[in-house]
Amino acid sequence: MKMVISGKGGSGKSTVAALLAEFLAEQNREVLVVDADESNPGLYRMLGFGNPPLTLMDLLGGKTEVRKKLRERIRKEGREELGLFEKHRISPEDLPGEYVARRGNLSLVVVGKILQAREGCACPMGVVAREFLKRLEFPSGGIILVDTEAGVEHFGRGLETAVDGVLAVVDPSLEAVALAERIRDLATGSGARFAGVVLNRITPETEGILEEEIHRRNLPVIGRFYLRPEFTAALLRGEKLPLSGEVREELVRILQGLQSGLL
Ligand SMILES: Nc1ncnc2c1ncn2[C@@H]1O[C@H](COP(=O)(O)OP(=O)(O)OP(=O)(O)O)[C@@H](O)[C@H]1O
Ligand SMILES: [Mg+2]
Repeated sequence: MKMVISGKGGSGKSTVAALLAEFLAEQNREVLVVDADESNPGLYRMLGFGNPPLTLMDLLGGKTEVRKKLRERIRKEGREELGLFEKHRISPEDLPGEYVARRGNLSLVVVGKILQAREGCACPMGVVAREFLKRLEFPSGGIILVDTEAGVEHFGRGLETAVDGVLAVVDPSLEAVALAERIRDLATGSGARFAGVVLNRITPETEGILEEEIHRRNLPVIGRFYLRPEFTAALLRGEKLPLSGEVREELVRILQGLQSGLL
């Protein structure tokens, strides 16, 4: 199963991706996290890795090289879809070791990061992410979680066409709710499944109001995480997220929700 995690900036996309990944790996499931956020560098830390792997952009020769290949392809074939990767089917084992961080059955692949001023649009990374995900093969029962940049630009690049479903993370703000509705419409509009919404950083004061707004828009809620200072503290220390019994129970609910939303 390939799942994109989408939502407003700072809503908790990476936190939810890291919690799901850690929990699934603990359950002996094969998990691959694909970091498709071009800006934030720290997902590897949230997942408990000491260093990030080299990126797919590095593997393909860097941004200038990728841009050149894409231009050549568009000129020759009139479409940018095929040919960046040599193999039609890619398994994480095909990638050289320095491009995949591994810890038990949890792996991390990073698409690329914007590193320099004026290096231009991140679009080539969007094409690399989509093409990689389309070709990616993973053992049955394994799960691929794609963490994305804030907002909906990845939909413009067709990332959702490379996965089985889209999950939206919503924090207690009307912007996050409105964006979740857009995410559902964009995902379903291009034939992807919308797996549901995870509410994040809720408190007793905000939970009811947020649920009401979500229900008004007919968005299915598959999980809820309360505002947990231990998450903020762990991430501030650069440590991986602690999984308490309560958090584990919620992760079970979310995984059940994902299964029923996608099957
Ligand atoms: N349930 C929670 N309780 C407390 N703090 C949280 C919770 N979820 C996320 N945070 C904190 O909120 C901040 C934003 O979370 P996170 O980085 O996961 O969001 P994001 O949606 O991935 O952000 P971006 O759009 O920048 O990628 C982090 O500092 C994290 O520690
Ligand atoms: Mg993030």
